[in-house]
Amino acid sequence: MNLIEATQSRHTVKAFEAGRTLPQHSIDQLLAVLRNSPSSVNSQPWHFVVASTEEGRARMAKAAEGPFAYNQPKIRDASHVIALCMRTDMDEAHLKAILAQEERDGRFQVDGAKAGQDKSRRGYVDLHRYELRDVPQWMEKQVYLALGGLLLGAAMLGIDATPMEGFDQRALDLELGLRERGYTSVVLAALGYRSEADFNAKLPKSRLGVDEVFTFL
Ligand SMILES: Cc1cc2nc3c(=O)[nH]c(=O)nc-3n(C[C@H](O)[C@H](O)[C@H](O)COP(=O)(O)O)c2cc1C
Repeated sequence: MNLIEATQSRHTVKAFEAGRTLPQHSIDQLLAVLRNSPSSVNSQPWHFVVASTEEGRARMAKAAEGPFAYNQPKIRDASHVIALCMRTDMDEAHLKAILAQEERDGRFQVDGAKAGQDKSRRGYVDLHRYELRDVPQWMEKQVYLALGGLLLGAAMLGIDATPMEGFDQRALDLELGLRERGYTSVVLAALGYRSEADFNAKLPKSRLGVDEVFTFL
């Protein structure tokens, strides 16, 4: 499938076929997309919880009650549901862990490269912490970038997907013990096979016109 076909044919699935599981090699590709996602100063302020069992999906579905109940069947019936989470802080331990990983991965090949990278990253962290005062939003943006890659990746593989903000973030954090680990949930992505009840598959895509969306200079 080419890129234009993938973006035109993908849609938000409103009902999945329960009991059908995606092949592991497809899931592995999508997890690679998440792990390889770019982030500002390589900050990788994320964590991804992958539910691939009925029990795991049921735990996530607990966060889709009340006003979010419309999303519960999608969470239960999908093959996999990924909770895309962000860090609750860009703390010292994380900054050190990224730097150490970059060193192990061979990123520092000239004198001063390691110190330079550390200084530059800390400069951005300080900018967001002390001047812009938007560290959580800054981290959240990186998570949404990962979501974009995931949805495009799924489309390219012909995998049906549903991004979901419609869930109780605090309930999911509690259920998965995320806060204790320094994370909080941001958005869910259900992956699987659409069912006959997926009304969105039969509807045309709707987007604002080219003239409204683009300015060409
Ligand atoms: C961040 C985000 C959150 C969304 N949350 C939900 C949701 O909770 N439930 C749902 O059914 N659709 C959700 N959607 C799907 C959007 O409504 C959908 O992407 C939009 O209407 C465009 O339609 P399309 O994805 O079918 O092209 C979400 C989409 C995004 C990008």
